[in-house]
Amino acid sequence: MKAIAYTQYGPPDVLHLQEFAKPTPKDNEILIKIYATTVTSADWRVLNLDVPFGFGLISRLVFGVSKPRQPILGTELAGEVESIGKNVRNFKVGDRVFALTGIRMGCHAEYQCMPEDGAVALKPPNLTYDEAAALSFGGTTALDFFRRANLQPGEKVLVNGASGAVGSAAVQLAKHFGADVTAVCSTANLELVRALGAARAIDYTTEDFTKNGETYDIIVDTVGTAMFSRSKNSLKEKGRLLLVLAGLPDILQGLWVSVTGNKKVIAGPADERAEDLRFLASLAEAGAFKPTIDRCYPFEQIAEAYRYVGTGRKKGNVAIGLEHHYKT
Ligand SMILES: NC(=O)c1ccc[n+]([C@@H]2O[C@H](COP(=O)([O-])OP(=O)(O)OC[C@H]3O[C@@H](n4cnc5c(N)ncnc54)[C@H](OP(=O)(O)O)[C@@H]3O)[C@@H](O)[C@H]2O)c1
Repeated sequence: MKAIAYTQYGPPDVLHLQEFAKPTPKDNEILIKIYATTVTSADWRVLNLDVPFGFGLISRLVFGVSKPRQPILGTELAGEVESIGKNVRNFKVGDRVFALTGIRMGCHAEYQCMPEDGAVALKPPNLTYDEAAALSFGGTTALDFFRRANLQPGEKVLVNGASGAVGSAAVQLAKHFGADVTAVCSTANLELVRALGAARAIDYTTEDFTKNGETYDIIVDTVGTAMFSRSKNSLKEKGRLLLVLAGLPDILQGLWVSVTGNKKVIAGPADERAEDLRFLASLAEAGAFKPTIDRCYPFEQIAEAYRYVGTGRKKGNVAIGLEHHYKT
């Protein structure tokens, strides 16, 4: 099979098309023919080892010390089940599915195997493959943080970085759970975040949300600019600060604050659960959640997609299409 590989950390120029053996599903696995994948902020970070302050060493231990251990990036996919292992009961050949491989990666390829009890679910019929591929990374991250924060209907939620993959999912999910949502983004994205469900949109180029006197039950920071020292006066009593992106010092300070104060800081990697994929699919099918797609690139132009993702300014998600491979 064809895949986009890299053998050294670096800029998108290190990516190249390479032939790999087509994977064979184990007894409990399904083999998925991939029609669409995405380039996420996580792919960009692992390509460059551009990780938050304090995580350099652990990232090298996880992803490979001097060179990448896993040569194929890509955390999300959508496609069709081509074959199944002999013990698989929940999927059949021909099922249309989407999946999240997380740090196992490997989705920038024509095929991928998933355990049937892994983070894989049936694709909502009303979503395109590009949209389905982009359902899980931002969606499961936002869901997991809201679950850990015990988000309640009627609470006031502020999302900093509301136009990115995680932010655009967080705005939609918070609204779905009955929260009153304020979104922080740049001027160009104000309309987008309002359309996603934000009752108010703050343009960070003209207004500092930490200085306008408003307070929130939950602040979600997907940018790394709303750490506790800056956000604490914008949090209500018993407020929760969700650090989706943070360096080690801010996480440690958050732990200390959570133990000693009446406000809570929640950080760390989000969980990847099959039931969250099924929940997101059910919301998508009901029209209550839709991944925002900024751009779509063909598989062969994935390096261009990485360059765009690396600007840190994408709106929602960047999809990569492979479906044309099978139409010829
Ligand atoms: N903890 C976890 O498990 C976990 C999971 C997923 C992702 N992450 C991390 O979370 C971060 C966000 O991920 P993502 O995929 O959503 O990234 P993304 O799609 O690249 O979005 C980043 C967003 O940040 C906005 N932004 C940039 N500067 C800003 C500022 N000063 N104030 C407010 N917004 C600003 C940009 O919007 P504008 O163009 O409007 O500025 C952009 O839309 C990444 O660093 C990723 O590594 C963590």
